[in-house]
Amino acid sequence: MTTHVSDSPANVVASRILGTGHYAPAQVVTNDDLAKKVDTSDEWITTRTGIKQRHFAAEGEASSDMAAAAGRAALAMAGLNVADLDMIIVGTVTPDHPIPGCAVHVQRKLGADDIPAFDIAAACAGFIYGMSIADQFIRGGSIRCILVIGVELLSRKMNWDDRTTCVLFGDGAGAVVLGPATRPVDGAPPVGILSSLIHTDGSLAGALNIPACGSAEPPVLEHLENKQDKVHMVGKDVFRTAVRNLTSCSAQALKASTLMSSDLDWVVAHQANMRIISQVSSRLGFPLEKFVINIDNYGNTSSASIPIALDEAVRDGRIQPGQTVLMCALGAGISWGAAVVRM
Ligand code: UT7
Repeated sequence: MTTHVSDSPANVVASRILGTGHYAPAQVVTNDDLAKKVDTSDEWITTRTGIKQRHFAAEGEASSDMAAAAGRAALAMAGLNVADLDMIIVGTVTPDHPIPGCAVHVQRKLGADDIPAFDIAAACAGFIYGMSIADQFIRGGSIRCILVIGVELLSRKMNWDDRTTCVLFGDGAGAVVLGPATRPVDGAPPVGILSSLIHTDGSLAGALNIPACGSAEPPVLEHLENKQDKVHMVGKDVFRTAVRNLTSCSAQALKASTLMSSDLDWVVAHQANMRIISQVSSRLGFPLEKFVINIDNYGNTSSASIPIALDEAVRDGRIQPGQTVLMCALGAGISWGAAVVRM
């Protein structure tokens, strides 16, 4: 493998973000568009969630297409080639097929060598999970360069008769390239992933799921007719858990990074509901203006939401090199996690 990083494994103390990228499908669906086929309104969706529009994949467009596009953009920003990659990790619960994983198709579409490529099914927390796993590999010194992608194509998993859930989600992909960060010299602050942590509470598995059509309840006509193959959510339970757990894991990640909230420049939180983000902001005591917010444009893109928001903020210059960013996400599982990163 050729990489631009010449540091010896012994000096690797963390992983760092070398590039970011994202891809959003061209088709934009506004709240008014949805109101033509669902019993809803722009007013309800905007005030209860903050969402104004979302992007839907085109017919024939697959999760791996979106993921590969985001991955190419991240590699280009990093100034790296596909041949520089040692691993591909894709956070997704909407792979192209049940078998093999989405990452397998991404590997093929990028034209990568026979490097390991696998999926993480941690739903909206999938990107934080992927980044945390990638960080362990790079810190361990055996792997140097990892493409971590969050991609979701949830528009094909909506029950259009369930207005509380179907208006929330959108499609898209975001990616980062992670490489080694070495021991800082001359008293410079460390860069890269300063802390990351992940959690799951399986007792809440029923709060957000696709109830059937997996191996436990194989697809039969009855399940399909009852839309048991589509996303089902007990919104209020997930909302309460999200506010509580995103706040607590963000505080834990900050503590583990030995920073305080006053040291943070930005928070990139999972974009599920503007009211969740506002409540986490006030509970953390960190101003809402310092949260990167794009839920109005994308809706909830699950595992893609953090890397899409991160990439937008990096590209428009809000997030600058050397700044410190807290990321936090929660979704089906219930699975959640947070990371503190110095860019
Ligand atoms: O990404 C994974 C994590 N996901 C989340 O974090 C999502 C967490 N949950 C939520 O964001 C919110 O619970 C929802 C946005 C899903 C729902 O908001 P809510 O304030 O909990 O609404 P609700 O389900 O309690 O419904 C309130 C009212 C109901 O009417 P009544 O019974 O008060 O007359 C619903 O029928 O709003 C009605 N309603 C709607 N009205 C118009 C529900 N959905 C809609 C809709 N349009 N789309």
